[in-house]
Amino acid sequence: MTHFHSFTFTLFTIFGLLFLARADSPISPGFPYGSKKVRGVNLGGWLVLEPWITPSLFDNTGNTAIIDEWTFCQFQPRPVAQSMLQNHWSTFYTEADFAAIAAAGLNHVRLPIGYWAFDVGPGEPYIQGQLPYLQKAVTWAGNHGLKLIVDLHGAPGSQNGFDNSGHHVSFPQWHSNSTNIARTNTVIKTLANMFKTNTNVVTAITPLNEPASFYGNAILTAARQFWYDSYGNIRFPFGTSQESNTIVMIGDAMQPLSYWNGFMTAPRYQGVAMDTHIYQVFSNGDAANSQQGHINSACARGNELAAFDLWTIVGEWTPATTDCAKYVNGRGMGARYDGTFPGSSYVGSCAGKSGAASSFSSSYKTFLRQYWEAQTITYEKGEGWIQWTWKTQAGAGEEWSYQAGLQYGWIPQNPTSRQFPNICG
Ligand SMILES: *[C@@H]1O[C@H](CO)[C@@H](O)[C@H](O)[C@H]1NC(C)=O
Repeated sequence: MTHFHSFTFTLFTIFGLLFLARADSPISPGFPYGSKKVRGVNLGGWLVLEPWITPSLFDNTGNTAIIDEWTFCQFQPRPVAQSMLQNHWSTFYTEADFAAIAAAGLNHVRLPIGYWAFDVGPGEPYIQGQLPYLQKAVTWAGNHGLKLIVDLHGAPGSQNGFDNSGHHVSFPQWHSNSTNIARTNTVIKTLANMFKTNTNVVTAITPLNEPASFYGNAILTAARQFWYDSYGNIRFPFGTSQESNTIVMIGDAMQPLSYWNGFMTAPRYQGVAMDTHIYQVFSNGDAANSQQGHINSACARGNELAAFDLWTIVGEWTPATTDCAKYVNGRGMGARYDGTFPGSSYVGSCAGKSGAASSFSSSYKTFLRQYWEAQTITYEKGEGWIQWTWKTQAGAGEEWSYQAGLQYGWIPQNPTSRQFPNICG
């Protein structure tokens, strides 16, 4: 874990002149981060299952104990789980989605994948087969001129306990177990090696999604070291002093950006970007906020994004302002918005706020458009944005779906056109 520091020191000692020269000749990323805005979508719920993105996949199991990909594989006969997964992987995203994403004027996709696509340990029920789809996704992105960010969304032991890490657990175990961290480093080395000569398409690797530092300082300590280790693994995949052009997209680990001031900055570190996620969905305060309050909160983030010392990309966000989408708080869990989530109280009915976009009123769609514009205007004060998510299963949480937004008009066909250019004042 601490090897990277000594590794760097050695390189500085032996290749001191080379490193001094490097400050004047930075790496060449496959996208002009910092001068052109990132506009993109996540490909959520494809290579890592999420109950709320594809609820029928979970409902069809007939087993309410199946709440994440781990239990999906654990509590069904393997051939059944395997064939459901294969069918999902081969149909939920196809090249047509990549063509539609490019046609919508977007330039990036961020693709979540779990460690188990590369490494299934003893006692882990996960089923493999995702890797060929990662490869296809890279080909399809390249075919349509899209840049692809590979995002490790689940690590052994879980880095956040969320179902979207693959395994919903009551307390994350990734950070406290050196075997888990070592396995994660190996996955990052594998990814860096896979794409080191294709950085025109795979421009960046996110070594770990959302390590949840709200569980305590130990996760933050582990995440900081893991970002250093990932820098070495991603930047030096050739086994020599030769550097890759792959961007190292570290995350804020759910700390304010100010916590990370001065972390992994140039000239010592080249090609580091910061991924921050902005949701106004998952607290009682967010549930109770007014529509104007949500817009104001989004607009208020601009200065912070503009000022931060790394390239800052809002790698997840949504025009949704409620947690009404079925299973978005976990399969079987209710919503804060209508008071059916433990510890919440009723704000309003979820009817017409979530589900099929065909049920949305025109005033609700106008609000979604305003809030979408407020966010994209603000996030472009940083390096740009990647919305969560391109699509959901038909009728499921469509307020989150970029595709539904295009169809129903709360997202413009050209992401730079504005109906409310002064929404942030
Ligand atoms: C650490 O994690 C590994 C799996 O990566 C597991 O086999 C091992 O039992 C864990 N160790 C402890 C002490 O929990």
